[in-house]
Amino acid sequence: MDRVVVASAPGKVNIVLRVGAPRADGFHPLDTVFEALDVRDDVVAQLAPELTMSITGIGEDLSVDDSNLVIRAAQLLKDRYGHQTRLDIAPADLGAHLAVTKRIPVAGGMAGGSADAAATLVALNELWQLGLEGDQLHECAAELGSDVPFALMGGLAHGIGRGEKLTAVSSSETHGWVMLLNQQGLSTPAVFCEFDRLGLGEATPDATGDVCSVLAGPARDSEHRVLLGSVVANDLEEPARSLRPDVAHIIDTIRAHIAAGVLGAHAVLLSGSGPTIAVLAEPNQLDSLAARLEQLFPGLTAVVATGPARGAYLVR
Ligand code: C5P
Repeated sequence: MDRVVVASAPGKVNIVLRVGAPRADGFHPLDTVFEALDVRDDVVAQLAPELTMSITGIGEDLSVDDSNLVIRAAQLLKDRYGHQTRLDIAPADLGAHLAVTKRIPVAGGMAGGSADAAATLVALNELWQLGLEGDQLHECAAELGSDVPFALMGGLAHGIGRGEKLTAVSSSETHGWVMLLNQQGLSTPAVFCEFDRLGLGEATPDATGDVCSVLAGPARDSEHRVLLGSVVANDLEEPARSLRPDVAHIIDTIRAHIAAGVLGAHAVLLSGSGPTIAVLAEPNQLDSLAARLEQLFPGLTAVVATGPARGAYLVR
């Protein structure tokens, strides 16, 4: 029978993102708190003679060859663990078609490509009956990209190293976000490169303690979210502003509105390496805030999200 397996994985926002000077391998040491959001991509996996993929939803113009993280995730799993399959198929003949439904913005700083890779790992572990444990999937995820392990894990997590060394953080509170998408993407390596050019790594002052204290602290409901809004930070905002004055202008305008108390939001920050802008607000006010932001910035799309959301999981 033609089995179909479906997996889902979340987008993310970094509530705080601290960046140090580049390491010998070129990567930057991060100290960050990730939050998974209920904006999710799905991967539908079916046995096929080769490894192929397709994309529907947003990002239909993305390449679907072996440069795509979905195919790279599938290839890695096949090469490393294909011999463990309990299917009656020779490891070298394992294949799959992976149909991705994308809702997480492309090149937006919300780790959409990483979510697709995480969903692929979960789907193929099941489809090919590899029997892998969580830590084996995590190891593959970390090889594929800095944000893939968190897309697997979900929830809230403190991340160090490249962002792949994760510790779960618990919070009973829900956070509301309006994610303001920009039509023109921004390349992650270009933002890190600009960070270096501006000589920013050495000056990084604080770590993520303030955010972790609020998340673990006694404040509840709106008071919790107001406090969280006072400690959000992203060290990639400065290089992103330098590369994209349009993004700087939008952030400044929203910040001024928040400071004047006329927007009904708690904080604004760049999401990851941008250009998506994340606005923290009350979960029951997201629709009206999204409408107001689209009115203020014609041409931008506002997507409503809440977190923390579940990591990658098998839907069926
Ligand atoms: O790990 P990932 O493939 O997502 O990283 C993309 C690029 O972003 C890297 O090649 C590197 O240029 C930059 N990066 C970095 N430091 C990190 C994460 C990413 O310099 N911690």
